[in-house]
Amino acid sequence: MSLLDIRNISVRFGGVHALEEVSLNLNQGEILGLIGPNGAGKTTMLRVITGVVQPNHGEIDLEGEMLNNLPIHARVRKGLGFAQQLVRPFREMTLAENVALAAGAEQTRHPWRSMFRVERRNALQESLKWLAMVGIENAADSYPNAVPLGYLKRMEVARVLALRPRMLLLDEPLAGLNQVEATAFADILVELKSQGQTILLIEHNLAEVRRICSRLVVLDNGCKLAEGSPETVLKQPSVLEAYIGQGTVHAEN
Ligand SMILES: Nc1ncnc2c1ncn2[C@@H]1O[C@H](COP(=O)(O)OP(=O)(O)OP(=O)(O)O)[C@@H](O)[C@H]1O
Ligand SMILES: [Mg+2]
Repeated sequence: MSLLDIRNISVRFGGVHALEEVSLNLNQGEILGLIGPNGAGKTTMLRVITGVVQPNHGEIDLEGEMLNNLPIHARVRKGLGFAQQLVRPFREMTLAENVALAAGAEQTRHPWRSMFRVERRNALQESLKWLAMVGIENAADSYPNAVPLGYLKRMEVARVLALRPRMLLLDEPLAGLNQVEATAFADILVELKSQGQTILLIEHNLAEVRRICSRLVVLDNGCKLAEGSPETVLKQPSVLEAYIGQGTVHAEN
């Protein structure tokens, strides 16, 4: 079942064709890996989906509803959950409080009200659930400066989960993590998927991509180069060539 249907997206930045007639779909309950060498157009595609970039051409269809003309916040309300690549937590708030802000916003629709009284207490309790879901409830009362980057990245996912998204859109969530942290983070994505979450994952760590993705779409130079199961796609000569040109093919071994 297709949740998100992206059709014939083209994006030009001046003379640069960042995307050319790219179509892809995100099925309910899958982890779709969107991969490709640097500059392939992956982040641009994510920005088109979230509404940061307006495509020159093409359609973004969420279960039959066209999102093209909706602003970013309206797309969030429709269930698009996207984590920030650079996590910028409120440093003077604990991890739980950071997530509670989002949880409170979801409950009241008025973020400022979530700072007060009952709503604040409920939101804090609620936030523990989301922190547990990403495996860091033990750090609920810690401050951002006192935890490793892997924790902050998980907190960011907890913050997005608190908004009860219908899908998670993640741009290189494993970047900057060591292999142990990266594997732990990827395991959480698998767990979320097993609970029914749908995930679009942009990632350069091909070992983890191969391990956890249900399906891959490969972009190169703004065009779709390949699509299919990780085993098939990561063996495809054109895909290997695109990565070899980049000197990053070792990442998949
Ligand atoms: N705001 C912008 N203005 C001009 N050109 C841009 C802009 N954003 C992206 N580009 C260009 O569009 C192309 C695609 O970039 P994009 O960031 O989508 O690639 P990417 O696949 O995410 O790469 P990476 O793996 O390095 O993150 C590149 O040539 C890039 O320089
Ligand atoms: Mg990118």
